[in-house]
Order: sequence, then structure tokens, then C-alpha cells
Amino acid sequence: TESASPSSPDLSSRTPPYPKLLKRMSEVRRILGSSRALTLAEKILYSHLDNPEDSLLTGTDNGSNIRGVANLKLKPDRVAMQDASAQMALLQFMSCGLPSTAVPASIHCDHMIVGERGADTDLPSSIAGNKEVFDFLESAAKKYGIEFWPPGAGIIHQTVLENYAAPGLMMLGTDSHTPNAGGLGAIAIGVGGADAVDALVDAPWELKAPKVLGVRLEGKLSGWAAPKDVILNLAGQLTVRGGTGSIIEYHGPGVESLSCTGMATICNMGAEVGATTSLFPFSPSMVPYLEATHRGPIALAASTIASSPGPHNLLRADDGAEYDRHITIDLSSLEPHINGPFTPDLSTPLSKFSETVKKNEWPETLGAGLIGSCTNSSYQDMTRAEDLVKQAEAAGLEPKSDFFITPGSEQIRATLERDETLSTFSKAGGTVLANACGPCIGQWKRTDGVEQGESNAILTSYNRNFPGRNDGNRGTMNFLASPEIVTAMSYAGSTTFNPITDSIPTPSGKPFKFSAPSGSDLPSSGFAQGNPDFLPTPGIPDPSAPVIVDPKSSRLAVLEPFEPFPEGDIEGVRVLYKVKGQCTTDTISAAGPWLKYKGHLPNISANTLIGAVNAATGETNVAYDVDGATSSIPELAERWKAQGRTWLVVAEHNYGEGSAREHAALQPRYLGGRIILAKSFARIHETNLKKQGVVPLTFANEADYDRIDACDDIATIGLYDVLKAGGKGDVSLRVTKQKTGETFEIPTKHTLSVDQAAFVLAGSALNVLAKAKRA
Ligand code: F3S
Repeated sequence: TESASPSSPDLSSRTPPYPKLLKRMSEVRRILGSSRALTLAEKILYSHLDNPEDSLLTGTDNGSNIRGVANLKLKPDRVAMQDASAQMALLQFMSCGLPSTAVPASIHCDHMIVGERGADTDLPSSIAGNKEVFDFLESAAKKYGIEFWPPGAGIIHQTVLENYAAPGLMMLGTDSHTPNAGGLGAIAIGVGGADAVDALVDAPWELKAPKVLGVRLEGKLSGWAAPKDVILNLAGQLTVRGGTGSIIEYHGPGVESLSCTGMATICNMGAEVGATTSLFPFSPSMVPYLEATHRGPIALAASTIASSPGPHNLLRADDGAEYDRHITIDLSSLEPHINGPFTPDLSTPLSKFSETVKKNEWPETLGAGLIGSCTNSSYQDMTRAEDLVKQAEAAGLEPKSDFFITPGSEQIRATLERDETLSTFSKAGGTVLANACGPCIGQWKRTDGVEQGESNAILTSYNRNFPGRNDGNRGTMNFLASPEIVTAMSYAGSTTFNPITDSIPTPSGKPFKFSAPSGSDLPSSGFAQGNPDFLPTPGIPDPSAPVIVDPKSSRLAVLEPFEPFPEGDIEGVRVLYKVKGQCTTDTISAAGPWLKYKGHLPNISANTLIGAVNAATGETNVAYDVDGATSSIPELAERWKAQGRTWLVVAEHNYGEGSAREHAALQPRYLGGRIILAKSFARIHETNLKKQGVVPLTFANEADYDRIDACDDIATIGLYDVLKAGGKGDVSLRVTKQKTGETFEIPTKHTLSVDQAAFVLAGSALNVLAKAKRA
């Protein structure tokens, strides 16, 4: 395969279209009035509007009330897709019948690589095990002109940061941690494949104008505190729902003290508080990072814009810009934090962690420490961890916990290998895994004998810690911390160890205490290129290239369009399941072993909602049919589908929190789901549902959740009219109790826009797009 050299990459497709964005910005200023102070998030978003006048003035009191109200129709500059979600995105793109993508795009093979014994054995076996999927992705990339990063090249967000992210860029990524690129001043939003298809076919992508949550950083990090601690602390303040509907915009004097990669870590985990995205203003540390990653001309162009006065400054907020909510964090007094288990917002300062462990009777033995991943595998992260390993080694110590290192990309791996950081980890007994997601996405095959269901504790520098996330074992308590804290605590092998205050006994009997870690932001001799086989294919379309899908495959299936919405309101929609408590996209469409069916909708649908807790019985994945017969949730859904019965799910708050996984919307739709009725929704998932033709409704009165049970029958009142009216109007539901025959009506709320109403009517967004492209 012909490859681009990273030392002289073609920057034409990687440079944000600055002249166009600045022109659009002048237009926005004209529409909103030149005295209006804008946040940075607004500037970048609005300069990507398809038609600023239309988006900013419609329904917004003439532009005075945009945030949280306007429907922005945006034209992103680029799309990035990871292997698991790219399959469905491409299958959907293919059905639109276009010869190439409308904007530059990239595919990154990272999620389907197992972490077990180390890169040398894990990578070849994962490639062999997923060959038909990688072949499909590569063949589609070739045909449509998408840059293809093969397995082993790196994790999507690290590769994007090293190659594509840039100040002022707007991109979509089919992964919830896409906001990582905000560390380089880009607005990067995690979406489902159907949203990515909007950008790939040049259709405007719609987003409810986010509110802007300002986080002012003051002071400077020192000692053990790391950028990770900024977001671990903020997650504790905001909770997993606190950022919903908002962009988190960092500003203040503390910004300039942070490395570019540190800012990326902070933005990455904005996904954990439900934020639309997170971003930093242009800052001095972006220049050396862009230069070190062979993008000097982009650094120069961005610096010029960032230093221009007043209205032409696209890369910083205006003086006096107002935030919808504001939080201040003092970096100088920030303590390391440890978050978890099981939710990223359970945040405990390190100084209180030992007593918290004891109070909650969490395991005191630390089974494993895992560092790296898309969140924390920068040169700075790894050299600070290396410093601690060297300190411990000099004292004759070895880690007591298993210790794993996941480099985020081939570039960072090769650089750390050249600079002997990796050999320091290996000598200490650490296992260097492939440049891929591995243990972060349930692809960790543990070899330490921990049994399924057995309670145990691990510590990671990753970003997410839902039950079962790392090793598929819901008994594993997974705590999140900076790579430095993970590394130091792995030496003690204990969750009650505080590396700042506590000592570890050494073989000589002398107690050893760590000093605060130090490292380098960037490698002094530049980044190493690494294995040239891991460079991407060029993004040049080849219309004659075939796309490889075996019709007998159990892993890939060409998509059949969904049926349009029936004419009139719908009746006899039966409650399949009433979910109690947290219902993440992992709950709705589990990862781990199921990842291999991402491109085969019928097969992956057998995991639908298998993690959901039954509100009536407390059982997980036990559904009851009207005759009382029990089965798994997907089995009951299949049975009802075969009977021609549509159904709905009733759920509590933040339904669909977690990832951008559109399968969590596609699967219920495929099995006959028509409505999800919840107390509230996570943003990405709510959009995904509408794009697949499922109607998300919320209770107008939350107490009505208690009045509905599994197998009750529902009829919609007004839904069809609302759809026909482009989302205007209200929907009620008439509930008929299965046990008593009693009926009553409940009011609901919805957030359907004109376009989304059209998606539901047509059966899916794809049906609308395909029709428009055929016309
Ligand atoms: Fe991969 Fe985990 Fe990041 S799954 S993209 S390393 S959040």
C-alpha cells in the first residue's frame, strides 16, 4: 500500500479552512451585531454553520436567545471513525450510493485488538480473528478515499491528535471520546455512524445549540497533581449528567501552564460528564506540539489568527463572553483524585481515599494497574510514570500489582521505545500491550486467576469505569486516576496506599518513599515514526475498487432499510421491559465479545439490553411475556417481532449514557422497538434513537414511571400529528394495564426537530438521505 510519510504529510486536507471560517465569522458578526461578545465554542461552531442566518435567527428571538434553543445546521470539516463503529457508519454510507466522501475522513483499527500477553502476540492473533472486518474497512476506505490506519497504528483519539486535530477545526468522530481533540482547540464531537454519514455525504449535521459551561483555571499544577486530576475533580463536581447539553470551555491564566496533551486528557473525559464536547483556547503549548507532529504551517496559521485583534480572532473567546454556568479550579491547590468504582463521578481526593476504601469495605488488594489508552499515553504521562518506576527500581522494588502499559499510537510507542521508557517498564515487570484499546473496552483477557463475579480492585488511567468495562467481570471495582498515581500504587499493591505520604518497605528493610514525578512534555529528539506498515493509506478514492462483504459472513451484513412510520397514531405498542436504575449504552448493547458482530445487525441484536435490571423483580436480563413465561430480553423482543408486535422500553434517568454506540439505537429498532419512554436521555443516544426512527419520549411527570409495568399496552395520542408538523405539538400515551385492563393517559415531552420528525416518518435518517441523493 502506498503510504504518506508523517515527516512530510500532505497538509492540504489536514488544515482547517481558515479563510472560509473567518469569512463565515464576519457574516455571523454582521448577523448578531459586532458588539456581541462570543465564547470560543460559539465562534468555532457558528463559523461552521451551513446557513448562519437561518440557524441563528430562526426561533431565537432574532438571535438574542441562541444557546439551548437554536437548531444549528453545521458543516464539519472532517470525520474520524474507529473500527467497531466504522462498520455500521460505512454500511450506512454505502447505501447512499456516492462515489467518495464529501469531507476528509479516517478509519482507525483499535477497538478490536485484545490485550492479554503483549503486543507481539495479541496483535497478530487479533488481526487474524477480525480479518474479514479489517478487509471490509480497508476495501471501503480505498473505494471512497478514506485514510485507513491499520490495526496496530494506534487509538483513534491519539492518532487524531497527532495528525488531524487543529485549532478552529470542527470534526465528528464515531466515538464518545472524540472531544480529546479539544486539547488542540478543535470542536470535536462524538456521534453515531448515522450522524457521521451526514457529514460524509455533505448534508448539514444538526445540533441543538449547546449551552457553554466555562471552567476558569487558575494557578499551576505541581508535584503529584496532573491534568487528569482537573477532570477527575470536575467530574465529581458536575456528576455524569452535569455537562449534558453543554460545551465545556476552559479559559483563564492556568491554561497556559498546561501541556497540549494534558489539555487533550481533560477534554477526553468531558465525555464522562455528558458534555457535548470540551475545548481549550489557542495556547502557547499547541505550537511546539503541532511542530513536533510535522504541522509547522498549521501552527503558524493558527498563531497568526490567535494573535489578531478583536473580531478576527477565531481561536479565543471575546473579552466579556458570558457563560451559562461557571466553575473555577485552582490548579495550584489541586490534589490528585481517584474516581470510582463503577462510575466516573464518584471522586475522592487521594488524601481521603484510604479511609474511603476502608469505610466502604472495598478490596484493599490492588490486582492490577493499567496506564496509557487514548486518555493518558502522552510523552509527558509516560515519562512521569517512568520516573517513578526508576525511583522504585533504584530502591530494589518491583510492582506488587500486575502492570500494563498501552501506548496510544505507533508514534508514541516507537518514541518511548527509542528513549528506553518502554524497556524501563518491561524490566520492572510491566507488559506493553498493542497500540489499541484492549483492556479499556472489555478486551482484556486476564491471566491472574480472578474468577467471573469475584470482587477485586484495579486502577487505570483510562476514562470510563462502568461495571465490566475492562475485563467483562462486573465484580471488578475499577478506579480511575492519573498514570502517575496508578504506577505508584501498583508498587504498593494496595488501594490504601498514598504515595505522597506513605512508604513501602524495601528488601534492605529501609522504607522507600516516592518523590513527586517529573517528565517531559515532548521528546527532545522529536517523535520517532515507528513501523512504516502502520502509516495510513492515502485518502484518494478508487471507484473501481470492490468493497469486500461475504454474503455468508456472520460478522458483516449489508443493511436493509427500515420501514417508514405507519400512517396515524400507533396502538398496541407493548412494554417489553421496565428498566430500573442506570442504563448505559453498555447495558443496551454490550461490548467485549459482542464487538465482533458490530457489522452484523441481526447477530449483534442478540445482546440487546442484556445488562438491564428488571424494575419489578431486580433480575438482570429476565423478561416476562404476558403469560408469565420468562426469557432473555432479546429473546422476548425476537418473539414479539416474529408476531409483528412493536414494543417500547420504560426507563429512568440518563438513558443511553456512556458512549456514542449507535447499535444501542439500531438494535431495538431492528427488533421492533418503536418508543423509549424515560425520565431523561443522554444527548448522543437520544439523537441516535431519532436517526434510527425510534421515538424518545420523557415523562412530563416523573411519577408516571411508577404507573407503567412490563406488558402494559400503549397507544400514542398525537404522535403522528407531531411528526407531520415537524416536531411541533405534544404527545400523550394511553396506557392499558395488562393485569387489570384499566386505562389512563399520561403526558410526555419530546425534543423532535423538523429534520428529526422527518427521520422518524421516513423510517430512519438514512432513508431521508438516500432519497435526497437519488433525487
Ligand atoms: Fe479506546 Fe478506551 Fe479510548 S475504548 S478510544 S481507549 S476510551
